Amino acid sequence: MSLASKRILLIVSGGIAAYKALELVRLLRKAGAGVTCVLTRAGAEFVTPLSLQALSESRVYTELFSLTDESEMGHIQLSRAADLVVVAPASANILAQMAGGMASDLATTLLLATDKHVLVAPAMNVRMWEHAATQANIATLKHRGVAFVGPNEGAMACNEYGFGRLAEPAEILAIIDALLVRPKPLTGKHALVTAGPTHEPIDPVRYIANRSSGRQGYAIAAALAELGARVTLVSGPVSLAPPADVTLVRVETAREMLVACEAALPADVAVFAAAVADWRTEAANLKLKKSPDVALPSLALTLNPDILATIAHANPRPRLVVGFAAETHDLLAHATAKRARKGCDWIVANDVAEGTGIMGGVENEVHLVTAEGVETWPRMSTDEVARRLATRMAEIFV
Ligand code: C5P
Repeated sequence: MSLASKRILLIVSGGIAAYKALELVRLLRKAGAGVTCVLTRAGAEFVTPLSLQALSESRVYTELFSLTDESEMGHIQLSRAADLVVVAPASANILAQMAGGMASDLATTLLLATDKHVLVAPAMNVRMWEHAATQANIATLKHRGVAFVGPNEGAMACNEYGFGRLAEPAEILAIIDALLVRPKPLTGKHALVTAGPTHEPIDPVRYIANRSSGRQGYAIAAALAELGARVTLVSGPVSLAPPADVTLVRVETAREMLVACEAALPADVAVFAAAVADWRTEAANLKLKKSPDVALPSLALTLNPDILATIAHANPRPRLVVGFAAETHDLLAHATAKRARKGCDWIVANDVAEGTGIMGGVENEVHLVTAEGVETWPRMSTDEVARRLATRMAEIFV
């Protein structure tokens, strides 16, 4: 990994995880990046400017109103001289200040003044992480284009367990590398994505459908295109605008979706996010009439083709085949069994039980089931799930 000639402005805010910033600085320097550190007052309670200075081999900035700092380099310039601004660890407090547009110290002033991409690695107590205020701040920041890495799940310094641990320095480094050095790792690759529901006609005006909005599949198509892939998005009926730089193939039924997917092969990656109707019925040519004199229609159902399983066994098979599992109970057992049954590499599993707000929602809480096991990701926006999945998919091709 080479970050030679890249300049990172690293903001270290308060929290026990601040000590890990030292390792991050070491890794960044080893990768060839120049690192300028800014330490908040709370951050300085956990790690000293001297340690950061020794590892970064650069002056460490702490105070907004320091005449020396201003004569050497104004804060605006400091915020703009970097290729990327990284906040690690980011406390609940600094996230709140960022979301609120505060400029109460050097770190927050820089964050308000910067015109550079900002990557945030949060670390805090699990309850602070889960608090509605923190989650709202994160949603605001993501909406503004701030990138996030972590937090991870695990045991915490405060003797609690859950999400809130700072992502490992190596993980943060990998994201920095992806953001700065390899922005288009899927260039030259073809990705096939299915999305949305299918509509199975009953007669010319009625159909069998489901609640899929298509959002997750559309976001994945967009994220893969952003990483440079040529994307074919085979979409059932949805009311979403097609993402930029994506070839959209609109279909209605499961059988049409299968034909469109087969026509799109060969593909390097195939992601089956569509909620394909399991059954279809023989569609009547004329509208079925209701009348007290006519017996109620009964629908004889036929199983639809399994598009995912078909493509997972196609020749040539896409290098990476990803299925989804939306379940209302025994999620992980079903997802693991589904991975084997369908012959796909990964299953992205989510709980769509009533009350989760997942189905058709703008947030998702997923488990990634791979040959290596199960990873549980924190609840995040469908866009963030898509970006993370796309980044993981890109790693297969490096
Ligand atoms: O069997 P089940 O519907 O639970 O499997 C879900 C996964 O399989 C999803 O990835 C979905 O897109 C895919 N699927 C498919 N064709 C079907 C049914 C499901 O591609 N007929």
